[in-house]
Amino acid sequence: MRILGIETSCDDTGAAIYDSDQGLIVHRLASQIDLHNQYGGVVPELAARDHIRTLLPLVDSLINDPANRGNKLDAVAYTAGPGLAGALLVGASLGKSLARSWEIPAIGVHHMEGHLLAPMLEDNPPDFPFLALLVSGGHTLLVDVKSAGNYRVLGQSLDDAAGEAFDKTAKMLGLGYPGGPAIANAAVNGDSRRFVFPRPMTNRPGLDFSFSGLKTHTSTIARQHKLDQQTTADIALAFELAVVDTLKIKCFRALSQTRRKRLIVAGGVGANLRLRSTLHEMAGQIDTELFYPRPEFCTDNGAMIAYAGYFRLTLGRPISADHSFDVFPRWSLEDI
Ligand code: KG4
Ligand code: ZN
Repeated sequence: MRILGIETSCDDTGAAIYDSDQGLIVHRLASQIDLHNQYGGVVPELAARDHIRTLLPLVDSLINDPANRGNKLDAVAYTAGPGLAGALLVGASLGKSLARSWEIPAIGVHHMEGHLLAPMLEDNPPDFPFLALLVSGGHTLLVDVKSAGNYRVLGQSLDDAAGEAFDKTAKMLGLGYPGGPAIANAAVNGDSRRFVFPRPMTNRPGLDFSFSGLKTHTSTIARQHKLDQQTTADIALAFELAVVDTLKIKCFRALSQTRRKRLIVAGGVGANLRLRSTLHEMAGQIDTELFYPRPEFCTDNGAMIAYAGYFRLTLGRPISADHSFDVFPRWSLEDI
């Protein structure tokens, strides 16, 4: 079975072709970073317009790629939500139209299920059950995955998502967009002894997160100092360490509560090297296996959507089999 996947939920236009026998055939991504960088964050209307310009040629190039040419597609998967409404509509309308003209099913995919399944594209995919830490620009979720497609959200962010906190903090420090890689780069030269930031909501029970207080704390410290290169690096490092440590503490807690022995980490912040090494160390201490997608599949991409479409078909529960163009800008994983 061969599936075309389309991702347009935010500021990346992604497309990929996944084959259930041969694995990932071809994938491509057109980033909008340069477009949004000048505004310090994603401008939804510009994102949607750029998807319109970029998506069809991108899909065309995949279909005609020598790795795929001559093969029939069996389904088209597209991100149906959550995400920016206008951006989602571009992928949904092209995905549905192509599926209709080729007379194959169109499958609306949940973006966070895409992230959650991204480690399945790697050589050593995890078996069910596992615990998933999903850390993206829009979501911070701890999910207990008992079996295929069976999700229980154990904890989530009550305000800013982890990636959003990185983005807003980077903007405050004048480090540019997207903030995650910018903070991580600046933090490399930071001195960890200079500032120690709070680990929000770790001194009380529970698995929810809150990162907006940390952002405010960062802003207060930034205002009290002259933001020269060294001070910016020191603040970036203190912020990164606080987010990473908070995520580690909550993962440890969730693993202890659920007694799961496998942890998967996905979503854009999952590309953060400090997070990866910190969780690696923690997992090693408690005999837990750790799984990640490769860094380019932590951030948004078409490959995870193609795989999630295949996964939904194998479950026999594809979403949105009709020809309407419904998208779901707000959509819980538990409601799939
Ligand atoms: O999953 P993703 O590509 O898009 C959403 O679904 O939101 O995640 C994007 C987020 C952004 O907030 C970005 O700053 C963050 O992931 N990010 C990182 C890193 N790379 C991307 N955060 C920390 N460290 C990174 N290396
Ligand atoms: Zn995402």
